[in-house]
Amino acid sequence: MLELLGVEAGYNRTPVLKDVDLSVAPGEVVTLIGANGAGKSSTLRVISGLLPARRGEIRFSGEAITGLRPHAIVRRGIVHVPEGRRLFNDMSVRENLLLGGYTASKAERELRLEEIFALFPLVKERERQRAGSLSGGEQQMVAIGRGLMSKPKLLMLDEPSLGLAPKLVRQVGAIVERVRAFGVTVLLVEQNARMALNAADRAYILQSGQIILSGRSADLKNDPAVQAAYLGVEGKAA
Ligand SMILES: Nc1ncnc2c1ncn2[C@@H]1O[C@H](COP(=O)(O)OP(=O)(O)OP(=O)(O)O)[C@@H](O)[C@H]1O
Ligand SMILES: [Mg+2]
Repeated sequence: MLELLGVEAGYNRTPVLKDVDLSVAPGEVVTLIGANGAGKSSTLRVISGLLPARRGEIRFSGEAITGLRPHAIVRRGIVHVPEGRRLFNDMSVRENLLLGGYTASKAERELRLEEIFALFPLVKERERQRAGSLSGGEQQMVAIGRGLMSKPKLLMLDEPSLGLAPKLVRQVGAIVERVRAFGVTVLLVEQNARMALNAADRAYILQSGQIILSGRSADLKNDPAVQAAYLGVEGKAA
């Protein structure tokens, strides 16, 4: 469904992504994990057209999308939920959600809204509340719901667990699973490797802009090098 082939990108003269190869198949949950500054957000930005690729190719549903404008990429079915949720705090939850479906007709938007409420009943309970008054976990659900309002084929989530209490971090995995069951493929960017490896089928590990390791999440969880560097496990099985 999504393929990155030898992608290079950067800011000004500084290269940030170096020869990145990555793929996501329909129906999969794939995670990209790495430390601060590894280039995770930049990878999502290059896919969604916010950061130009200097080399390489990005393909989606069999077609090259490299160099397309961000809105054209959204129209192809790729939605990027950015780091930090970026809701309009003074608008209601409902208004925030409706913004995500701005290209659809009013009737279609109402229909989609009902689908999102069925998926996240908790969001429906907060429908009329100011987005800024919600807890971090609730805001994350609204941000994901807003992304789903445009009916994407692929939803890219940038660090949904950031700033959440440990109990809520575990719920992010359940939310991702619900999104998949909704029929949407997921590319999950995370610094929380433990949660991400539990949520995803496959994983890529990014270090200084390069993919240093990839494979089934179950295999990576048992890899001693991954355990030592990303799971805080030393000399014993997880
Ligand atoms: N707008 C920018 N201008 C210049 N350099 C940038 C810009 N955005 C990011 N960078 C640099 O690119 C590198 C990768 O940043 P990126 O945000 O992709 O990392 P990340 O893996 O998402 O990190 P984090 O976990 O902190 O979100 C970093 O060295 C960062 O300083
Ligand atoms: Mg980031």
